[in-house]
Amino acid sequence: MQIINQLANLRTAIAALRTNQRRVALVPTMGALHEGHLKLVREAKARADVVVVSIFVNPTQFGPNEDLAAYPRTLEADCEKLAPLDVDIVWSPSVGEMYPEGFATKVHVEGPSAGFCGGARPGHFDGVALVVTKLFNQVGADVACFGEKDFQQLAVIRQFVRDLGINIEIVGVPTMRDADGLALSSRNAYLSAEHRQAAVALPNALKAAAKAISEGEDVAAATTRATDAILAAGFSSIDYFALADAVTLAPVSEPGVRPLRLLAAARIGKTRLIDNIAV
Ligand code: PAJ
Repeated sequence: MQIINQLANLRTAIAALRTNQRRVALVPTMGALHEGHLKLVREAKARADVVVVSIFVNPTQFGPNEDLAAYPRTLEADCEKLAPLDVDIVWSPSVGEMYPEGFATKVHVEGPSAGFCGGARPGHFDGVALVVTKLFNQVGADVACFGEKDFQQLAVIRQFVRDLGINIEIVGVPTMRDADGLALSSRNAYLSAEHRQAAVALPNALKAAAKAISEGEDVAAATTRATDAILAAGFSSIDYFALADAVTLAPVSEPGVRPLRLLAAARIGKTRLIDNIAV
């Protein structure tokens, strides 16, 4: 496994591995790797001959009051988790390598980035779209794997890949969960023992609401019951809990025939958790 932090070296290494039309897969991450990330790596391995995992805490997707400085940086431990999975390259550029002095380009995606986390975190998805576009160009992968855990992010990525004609297959990987159902996230490490126990109310409420809606219950009634349960469990506030079209992420009040997704973000202690489920 090569750990590379300069673009010129990345290009040379990929060119050397890309012989005989071998397929290259990319798994973009910000590090602090857990089993959810490793599931993406295994999926990538199953779909390609060469696997590149990027580890880059991307400053352009953090707002001024968000946790950029506090975000865990654990490159050594991350590499120890990746080596046994037969990863070929860990691409771990510095901020200066990714955004050199004088950098002046933005990628702005409308449509699926408008509501939900895009509303609560202005500019967040522009930062994601910018860095992911750069990673696609740097690696030149045939396929890239992303988690359904960040469902809106996945929808935004599918949108700009289609809009910009980027030649890459985007694979969405189902959310990896703890035994009690809480989605794995590097932010779970911020939870106290008490909050960790209470946090399971979020996936439980999503599951109950998805079932009720698919059985024909009124969307507003199911949503209110779910948000009441989340707040009663000890969450301090709810950023959103809403039903959306699974592709465009446009809000939906009456279920029709198109695939739907229930999406939620809520705060417990100082931690903001997100989750989602198919309806
Ligand atoms: P990060 O939060 O590190 O997540 C990297 C990838 O792991 C994302 O595709 C995310 O959806 C996936 N992931 C996280 N938790 C998961 C879980 N429990 N089950 C399955 N997949 C999970 O998302 C980002 O980084 C960044 O925005 C990035 C795309 C790397 C751009 O900077």
